[in-house]
Amino acid sequence: MEWGVLLRASDSLTEEIERVRQSALSEIDSVRDAPGLDSFRIKYLSRKGAIARLFDELRNAPASERPVLGKKLNELRSSIQLIFQQKEASLGSLSDRKAPSIDLTLPGRQRWVGTKHPLTQTLEEIRRIFLGMGFRIASGPEIEDDYHNFEALNFSPDHPARDMQDTFFITEKVLLRTHTSPVQIRVMESQKPPVRVIIPGRVYRNEAISARSYCLFHQVEGLYVDRGVTFSELKGTLVSFARQFYGSKIEYRFRPSYFPFTEPSAEMDITCFLCSGKGCRVCKYTGWLEILGCGMVHPAVYRFVGYDPESCTGFAFGMGVDRIAMLRYGIDDIRILYENDIRFLRQF
Ligand code: DAH
Repeated sequence: MEWGVLLRASDSLTEEIERVRQSALSEIDSVRDAPGLDSFRIKYLSRKGAIARLFDELRNAPASERPVLGKKLNELRSSIQLIFQQKEASLGSLSDRKAPSIDLTLPGRQRWVGTKHPLTQTLEEIRRIFLGMGFRIASGPEIEDDYHNFEALNFSPDHPARDMQDTFFITEKVLLRTHTSPVQIRVMESQKPPVRVIIPGRVYRNEAISARSYCLFHQVEGLYVDRGVTFSELKGTLVSFARQFYGSKIEYRFRPSYFPFTEPSAEMDITCFLCSGKGCRVCKYTGWLEILGCGMVHPAVYRFVGYDPESCTGFAFGMGVDRIAMLRYGIDDIRILYENDIRFLRQF
C-alpha cells in the first residue's frame, strides 16, 4: 500500500509542478515591495520552499519517470528564479527613480543679486561730485604716527585739543588714525601747490560703542591749497557740494568753530532734509543738521610741510560719511553698517 501512495504522489508530481508554477506566476504580480518579494522567495525558492519540497518528492518517484520529472522541476525552478529576478530589478529601479524625485510644483529659488553697501554708495556719490569740481582722490595709511595725526596738524603735545579725539595707540608714537586729516600733511609733503584733493577713508576712535558711535567710521577730507584761495571759495565749494548731494532746495549756515589746523574754522549746517527745517527728532528740533567741519589752513601747518605761509592760502574740510549715510537712508544705529547682516544689506 505504501508503495501505491507513493506512486500516486509521483503521478501527481507533474500536476503539482503545474500548480506551483501557476500560483507563483499569479503571486509575483501582486508583489509591490521588498518585504513582499522576500516572502515570495521564502515561499518558493528557499531551502524549505515549494520547489525544494518538490525536489524532495522527486526522490520518491519511480526511477523511470525521474529524468522527465527532474527536467520539469529544473525548468520550474529556472522560470521562478527568472520572474523573481525580474521583479527584483523592477522594484530596484522603482526606488532608484524615487530618490531624486523632483517636485515641479515647488516655487523657484530666488537668486539674489548683490548690492553696494550704503556706505559705498554714499562715498561714491561724494566722490563723483568732488571729481566734477576738479578734485583728485588721495589716500594715506590707517596706521599713522603721532606726527602726522597730531603734531603737524598743530596739536601741540599738551594741547587740550588732543582730548577731542580718543585714540587707539599701538605704541607711544604709533596709532590708528583718528581722522583723515593726516593725509593732508602727507599730500603736501609729497607735492607743491596747487593741491586739490579729497581723501576718503576709514578712521578709528576709542569711544564707548553705542547706536551713535562706533570704534571705526569713515570720513571724506578735502584740501585745496594755491595762491589767493579765499574763504568765499571754501563756502562756494561746500554749498555747491551740499546742493548736489542733498538737493537744490536746502539752506545752509556756517558757524564759527575751532580746529587746531584751521584758522578761521567753521562748521557747516544745512536745513534738516527730513523735516525741511521744521524740527524733528533727527535734527533735535533745531531744524538744522551739522554736516562738516572746515576752515582756512592754519599757517603753522604750512610750516610743517615746507610750504611758504606767506604765499600759500587754502581751505580744508572734513565730513563723516557714516552719519551722512544714516541720515540719507534713515538708519538709526551706526553698528548695523558693520554687522554685514544680509537682511539689512539687501535693502539697498
Ligand atoms: N578732522 C576733523 C575731525 O575729525 C574734521 C575736520 C575739521 C577736517 C575741519 C578738516 C577741517 O579738514 O578743516 O573732527
